[in-house]
Amino acid sequence: MKATRSWAEPYKIKMVEPLFMSTQEQREGYLKEAGYNTFLLRSKQVYIDLLTDSGTSAMSDRQWAGMMMGDEAYAGSENFYHMEDAVRRYYGYKHVIPTHQGRGAEHILSQILINKGDVVPGNMYFTTTRLHQELAGGKFVDVIIDEAHDPVSEYKFKGNCDIQKLQRVVDTYGAERVPYICMATTVNMAGGQPISMENLKTVRAFADKYGIMIVHDMTRVAENAFMIQQHEAGYSDRSIAEIVLEICSLTDAATMSAKKDALVNIGGFLAMNDPELYQKASNMVVVYEGLHTYGGLAGRDMEALAIGIGESVQQEHIRARIGQVQHLGQMLREAGIPLVLPIGTHGVFIDAKRFLPHVPQDAFPAQALAAEIYADSGVRTMERGIVSAGRNLETGAHNFPELELVRLTIPRRVYTQAHMEVVAESVVSVFEARDKIRGLKMIYEPTYLRFFQARFEPIQ
Ligand code: F0G
Repeated sequence: MKATRSWAEPYKIKMVEPLFMSTQEQREGYLKEAGYNTFLLRSKQVYIDLLTDSGTSAMSDRQWAGMMMGDEAYAGSENFYHMEDAVRRYYGYKHVIPTHQGRGAEHILSQILINKGDVVPGNMYFTTTRLHQELAGGKFVDVIIDEAHDPVSEYKFKGNCDIQKLQRVVDTYGAERVPYICMATTVNMAGGQPISMENLKTVRAFADKYGIMIVHDMTRVAENAFMIQQHEAGYSDRSIAEIVLEICSLTDAATMSAKKDALVNIGGFLAMNDPELYQKASNMVVVYEGLHTYGGLAGRDMEALAIGIGESVQQEHIRARIGQVQHLGQMLREAGIPLVLPIGTHGVFIDAKRFLPHVPQDAFPAQALAAEIYADSGVRTMERGIVSAGRNLETGAHNFPELELVRLTIPRRVYTQAHMEVVAESVVSVFEARDKIRGLKMIYEPTYLRFFQARFEPIQ
């Protein structure tokens, strides 16, 4: 692949969904009603929706055709076997249990593997993953490399695990208190940053030495594989499918939110090689999700997922997907917007600390910036900073994360290059008027995953 050639989309558009174009005055009213939380806006009030890449993909005509082949039997649906075949073929795990989405898989796995007082090291936290670890009695410990917490470090594999930090966890708590090591591909909260194959192999050797399992959060594994193909020595002539399979082969079990990489609007799964773990999980899934051959999904959803997995590892698809994200990032970078570098794979992350240096972190700069971008243009983004980081379970104080970010997350196969230009123009115009942004005060704080439903008021 020549870097000089364009990344244009390997598909054409066959159906469109009209968007509502609002005025700034209308948007200011919507924002007030929504408590300045972009999660509480109605989708109709949004012009370009960059809240998340989760469940927001456009499915292909093949996936839609597959939906018509739904076998809606309670037990043993044919679509489950198609999905199981796709997981075995593309990811290599022996057993798979469908779940309604990623957190369903995280819940079941955490309940089975974690005992009270256990410690789970991971390459940075994800909100739902950490909460399920904590609800099962475990404690999350961050073992990602320091570069991941530094928005200006341009290290290519900021998702890597720091083996010395991992060693310290084992030395401090003992290997018997570590039920598994959680490795995510790519690392969402670090800005969509990949882990290298070399690093994953080192983690594998470490895990083998101590007899610890590796659980793979494989939500964006194909995107990680693309970064390995582009930037890691020895992988430039390997296919995305081969690299994905190799990543999975270095791990023992996986949780998957198929709403991202796998191009479906709903669905996920838990996968593993150990038959005993499979037995336990397939029993637990009937309590919380549904029978082990549907796990909360309709037959048609499992069919779309089986087809989506195959599409997700196609070279032209992943190149255009990440190419679009990089294009937006490049436009913002050239305009001088402070970003997390390098540009990640599923979105562009604005560094709100540098964008709004005059707003203290406990006045929620990233939340305030997301609100301001929406008011400017109807572009919806998401806070990934102090609100997302929640409170320390023991002390009750805010967790103050190094990274205070606004995420411009790009849905797969949904928006055009012109949409990306509108987004860039809006961010630049907010940047030019950044001095007037004062920050927010939280007026309602829910107990769990507060960022979803918290409400705010502007500081006058
Ligand atoms: N792991 C990662 C890395 C994720 O990004 C997500 C979801 C999950 C697990 C949980 O999966 O939503 O299907 O239950 N991320 C979404 C996001 C919500 O917007 O980043 P889920």
